[in-house]
Amino acid sequence: MTKYLNAAPTQHAKLLAWVEEWVAICKPDAVYWCDGSAAEYDKLADEMVESGLATRLAKKPHSVLFRSDASDVARVEARTYIASAKKEDAGPTNNWIDPVELKKTMLGLYDGCMKGRTFYVIPFSMGPVGSNIAKIGVEITDSAYVVINMHTMTRVGTKVLEVLGNDGEFVPCIHSVGKPLAECESDNGIWPCAPLDKKYIAHFPETREIWSYGSGYGGNALLGKKCLALRIASVQARDEGWMAEHMLILKLTSPEGEVKYVTGAFPSACGKTNLAMLIPTIKDWKVETIGDDIAWMKFGADGRLYAINPEAGFFGVAPGTSMQSNPNAMMSASKDTIFTNVALTEDGDVWWEGIGYDAPGTLIDWKGNKWDAATATEKAAHPNARFTAKASNCPAIAPEWEDPAGVPISAFLFGGRRPSTVPLVHQSNSWEHGVFMGSIVGSEVTAAALDVKAGTIRRDPFAMLPFCGYHMADYFKHWLEIGEKSTADKLPKIFYVNWFRKTADGKWLWPGFGDNSRVLKWIFERCNGTGKAVETPIGFMPTVDAIDRTGLEDEVTAEDMAELLSLDKEGWLKEVESIKEHYAKFGDRMPKALYDQLAALEARLNA
Ligand code: OXD
Ligand code: MN
Repeated sequence: MTKYLNAAPTQHAKLLAWVEEWVAICKPDAVYWCDGSAAEYDKLADEMVESGLATRLAKKPHSVLFRSDASDVARVEARTYIASAKKEDAGPTNNWIDPVELKKTMLGLYDGCMKGRTFYVIPFSMGPVGSNIAKIGVEITDSAYVVINMHTMTRVGTKVLEVLGNDGEFVPCIHSVGKPLAECESDNGIWPCAPLDKKYIAHFPETREIWSYGSGYGGNALLGKKCLALRIASVQARDEGWMAEHMLILKLTSPEGEVKYVTGAFPSACGKTNLAMLIPTIKDWKVETIGDDIAWMKFGADGRLYAINPEAGFFGVAPGTSMQSNPNAMMSASKDTIFTNVALTEDGDVWWEGIGYDAPGTLIDWKGNKWDAATATEKAAHPNARFTAKASNCPAIAPEWEDPAGVPISAFLFGGRRPSTVPLVHQSNSWEHGVFMGSIVGSEVTAAALDVKAGTIRRDPFAMLPFCGYHMADYFKHWLEIGEKSTADKLPKIFYVNWFRKTADGKWLWPGFGDNSRVLKWIFERCNGTGKAVETPIGFMPTVDAIDRTGLEDEVTAEDMAELLSLDKEGWLKEVESIKEHYAKFGDRMPKALYDQLAALEARLNA
């Protein structure tokens, strides 16, 4: 018999019926409606500490550490599905299974999957509660770890149900770790999940449903983030004429007090969180954070695009984050934080590779084993170890980060890791050219990282390849159509940046991090119609003196600057060939306007 731990705090008939339908399928021991309160968070965290699933951290107030199963450490793209009614609507870059077949398979897995567990109902808002850009979701989960992460990453609880009313629209999200418990069995402090071939992260774009089974980790389980805010929202955005993008949002203030908001799309592991929180090295310029991962944008009555951050927290990669690389992220994670798969110090603190100092003594590594730097053969923290931290704890958070109206966007940035060919920054000569730039985003991979030839470019258009809920070529078309809804003076200007240029002998040409503010300054000036530039075959580039190098003249010489801003004609002609191969993968749905852009680029390079 299922026990109801509290009364349903809603009279929303459709929501109540949906919950009852899943109670009947999952057969949990108990049902609990989450209210999003601090008391609820603390109670669940305490229960997980008591059961051995989490460890309290003496050195980080109000924070806990989890160690996942070694098989459940990241998003599983190979088990992520876009189950549209027609295969061709998912496109060539998404995994597809017929939705009827997939639901049948998954219902078989869900049958009785919550035996011995509590069925939590989490009403959540992506975006400030009540904003007309925000969306409501309801996640059912059998993981208390998911509940407390959702508390930090989204807005949870009663206030969301108030906005939902009795007939409001919500995205139903069902999640189970896929590990029912037998009578008297418990997890014994071991992270529950299902084997890889039983994991499914499924999206049904036509019916706007998310079904997730078998994983308790990050984007597989916190269904508001990649599943709702990107894969399902991208479909809604296409149908409703707005944008759901894998973009940071930052606020840039000049010494004169003028403000501009900029968004940026970069593939994973290109420093998006660092850019969103950077501390400028140029005098009297200020960067503040609105969001570090996702931007939802709608046109305002004035024809400008307004963005909100649909999230309320940061799910950041810990390794490599330090007081040098990103002090604001370190401070965001200094309290009220959930750490997953980092190492534990003897005095109850966290440690990871790239934290900026040596491991203080013997650690417990992410697998729960003793770890000593002198003898270790493996890393202490998993490379995808994470911190879940509140955006409100970020010292650089902009006061208007929760403005329900959003912030008006002046510029879009695209970028990736490109040791050669792509200059430090260039600007598109039109919206269509900017869409072309987004469509060719890519990062160079090393042979060590993947089983591919070193120097290969992995294309990740708009940094959306794993996150677009429909055919990517239709997504390009959507971007082109967005450009037709307003005028060039009101649409964001589009830039391509590359912090990762190297010299022929492999040295970084650009220091990056806080010095990227120098490039942001030029972008700011370009948005104002100032900022010195030359028109080149690939777009507008700064003149060599246009980027402010005050205080950096010795580190980045005038010659370095000339190289960073040189046009590598030969490299770009090779790039054109590589883009042709990339475009061919999208077949005949590819918009002609992008082929025209490619042909025009080739002609300009050959002129
Ligand atoms: C993320 C990602 O975790 O993009 O944000 O992979
Ligand atoms: Mn991301």
